[in-house]
Amino acid sequence: MDTRIIQIDRHHIDDGDKLHEAARIIKEGGLVAFPTETVYGLGADACNPEAAKKIYQAKGRPSDNPLIIHISDIKDLDTYAKNVGAKARKLALAFWPGPLTMILEKKDIIPSTTSGGLETVGIRMPADEVARRFIELAETAIAAPSANVSGRPSPTKADHVIEDMCGRIDMIIDADRSRIGLESTIVDMTRDIPMILRPGFVTKSMIEEVIGEVEADAMMLAKPTQDRKPKAPGMKYRHYAPKAKLYIIEGEEKDVAKYINTALVHLSNPEKTAIMVSKETAGYYDFANMEIIGSREEESDILYNLFDILRKFDAMDIELVYSEAFYSQRWGDAIMNRLLKAAGYNRIKV
Ligand code: TXA
Ligand code: MG
Repeated sequence: MDTRIIQIDRHHIDDGDKLHEAARIIKEGGLVAFPTETVYGLGADACNPEAAKKIYQAKGRPSDNPLIIHISDIKDLDTYAKNVGAKARKLALAFWPGPLTMILEKKDIIPSTTSGGLETVGIRMPADEVARRFIELAETAIAAPSANVSGRPSPTKADHVIEDMCGRIDMIIDADRSRIGLESTIVDMTRDIPMILRPGFVTKSMIEEVIGEVEADAMMLAKPTQDRKPKAPGMKYRHYAPKAKLYIIEGEEKDVAKYINTALVHLSNPEKTAIMVSKETAGYYDFANMEIIGSREEESDILYNLFDILRKFDAMDIELVYSEAFYSQRWGDAIMNRLLKAAGYNRIKV
């Protein structure tokens, strides 16, 4: 399949008819990857089961892993979800458009192919203006998982999508880097006390400020087992993984640096080894393949760079990575949820 790549200047979204063409592909049941503020999404008409099925094929995604749907207007919440309670409405008003996905009871208009066989559906209204205009022109909700091949790090740049999806989908909309760089927070609103299933930019305390008590899935930072699985179906799968074997070293900064530096001395293959560290601790190391993920003080840089660096390791053919842990104040859970998964939960405490 030929994949068309179109460039959209986000200051002139409506120049030309490129987004109209993208919307037409959606109406005809095709696949279009598009930018959002979290990560790039792989979109299809959420109400068309044949189109949704193509998403699973293009990604190599297991069919029990539901898709979240994207809307361009808060009013559409009731088009696709039923029994929307007061708390969900409050969260929509507070955080939409933005990086928050709410799990709600689905209406019949959403086919079970889209919902992975569940009676619920995840809904989000993205903040990215290119995404919203595209959804509006498509005149439907757009089902979209992250636009990576299943198991790979999520794409935060059009180049990442091109790497994974060229030849598999109809079109890729290229419009700069995703502003946040980490997938949305998912909160299950079908429970008496809502529960966060995936941590993201919108934190537990931000949500609690609006609706009071919420819980968090205890499995967010734990290794899934046969008996204990995370509540979001997709979170049990190996994910975000670079090709390299990745170790997370946890402990006091200096102890971590000592451990990593000792390990680096004994390498048989230094060119194929890399380290991932923070700006604050970079001075402890003297190693060629060092990626600085960002500052522990500017946590948003860490969100922004994480997936890009994991993909860079693949491009460099790295086989072994030592990473510090980033349990920072605000987004530590969100960062470590992704990093631990990427490492297959290989953590070494020093
Ligand atoms: O930021 C995002 O959320 C991005 C952009 C493109 O919007 N999308 C995204 O989709 O991350 P995806 O499919 O890669 O991750 C969605 C996660 C999966 O783990 C899936 O299992 C879970 O949400 N999920 C979807 N529908 C669900 C439902 N009804 N109940 C529980 N979990 C659900
Ligand atoms: Mg994903």
